[in-house]
Amino acid sequence: MSRFDTEFDFKDITYENIPGILNSGAELQKLIPSIQNDINTIVKESFPHELRKNIKLIRRITKGGNNDIYIYKSGDLTVVVRLSKYASFQIESFNHITVLGKNKNEKINNLKEAIQSKSNWERANSLGYTPMLYNYGYLENNGHFYNYIICEKMESDLSDYYETGPGKDSKSSGKLSITDHKIARQLVDLLYATTNNLGLICFDIKPANCMINYSDPNNIVVKLIDWDGDWCQDYSYITSKSDLKYFISILSVIVMAAHFYVFLDWNIFYTYFSEPDSYGNFVKDNKISLQNLFCDNLTDSQGNKSKFDFFQKHYFQIMDSDDNPATCEDAFNLTFTRAHYLNRATKRQANPQLVGVTRVGGRKKIKKSKKRKTNRKKTNRRKKNKKRKTKK
Ligand SMILES: Nc1ncnc2c1ncn2[C@@H]1O[C@H](COP(=O)(O)OP(=O)(O)O)[C@@H](O)[C@H]1O
Ligand SMILES: [Mg+2]
Repeated sequence: MSRFDTEFDFKDITYENIPGILNSGAELQKLIPSIQNDINTIVKESFPHELRKNIKLIRRITKGGNNDIYIYKSGDLTVVVRLSKYASFQIESFNHITVLGKNKNEKINNLKEAIQSKSNWERANSLGYTPMLYNYGYLENNGHFYNYIICEKMESDLSDYYETGPGKDSKSSGKLSITDHKIARQLVDLLYATTNNLGLICFDIKPANCMINYSDPNNIVVKLIDWDGDWCQDYSYITSKSDLKYFISILSVIVMAAHFYVFLDWNIFYTYFSEPDSYGNFVKDNKISLQNLFCDNLTDSQGNKSKFDFFQKHYFQIMDSDDNPATCEDAFNLTFTRAHYLNRATKRQANPQLVGVTRVGGRKKIKKSKKRKTNRKKTNRRKKNKKRKTKK
């Protein structure tokens, strides 16, 4: 370990230089330019001056797998604070900040992922694909650093919207509403923009990672969250150069459509695939290329296999008729077919004779890719919240 700073001063922060990764000390310094250890100060500074006096914590959401979500409000501004449950970095003696990881490779991967995450969130925010981002950084707690993101609170995620919110009415009507079409259109645009303008593939796309403001029917706004570098990966070496980017975007829409079909029984994208317009026909004509890309042919710039197959197995656990995991080809075919139907009832009506691969259920949470993680020590506020919750 060498010091990034040349002059040693007890008060100065120094950063780990990992051999084999260029400028890692400087990169680490960009992520943690100073040590912040008070979440209240960080939250306060995210609000404009005139609203800083009456900031209230109004709710905590524990639904996400890897992050705690806190909602703060002052005046008519409501923000979401998303704090990772797992540490990325630590501080050692003499204010020396290092990357967590059992060995050099783990450290390199963890640092690269943290750099990717920040870049993803900031670029997606600058193009308006995320809820407005107010602050991005790391909170120090007990010698460990936890990623935080402070952003605009939106009204709902699309999972809740369709399960318990206004989307339920549309589902019970049996027909896509104008709002459903608007939501689908915005999501398709966001997924294409993710590939075309950011060069990313985000594999963990699902309704819980799509946010909506819906109370003004004339101003339906949809955005994406969960831009972290673990599952939102850089494929710009492909998307900037080749026509494969169109196929990648189509795969993203197909995967999103399958999530809506399987978990909400309401696939708001089916008209894109089932209606014989140019888009539907293009997808149909290129089914084999899409399947190859989904199952085999796509690797990131380091040569690692893409995560499409991994994620469909993870969420959909598609089995064959003998209850063995289906081949990727069978799984792709089922995913592809599902994208063409509004819901199970319409698929059954269209194919009364259909037997074969089936879904046997899926897990909703994924583990972080990182193995060595340290759980954040509870602050007094978190302890208090817990007590409050158990009292109810
Ligand atoms: N900006 C936001 N506005 C409203 N709700 C949000 C916002 N960000 C996150 N949430 C809620 O918190 C949940 C988890 O957030 P997410 O960032 O996806 O964390 P995780 O990575 O742990 O899944 C979301 O599904 C959503 O319900
Ligand atoms: Mg999420």
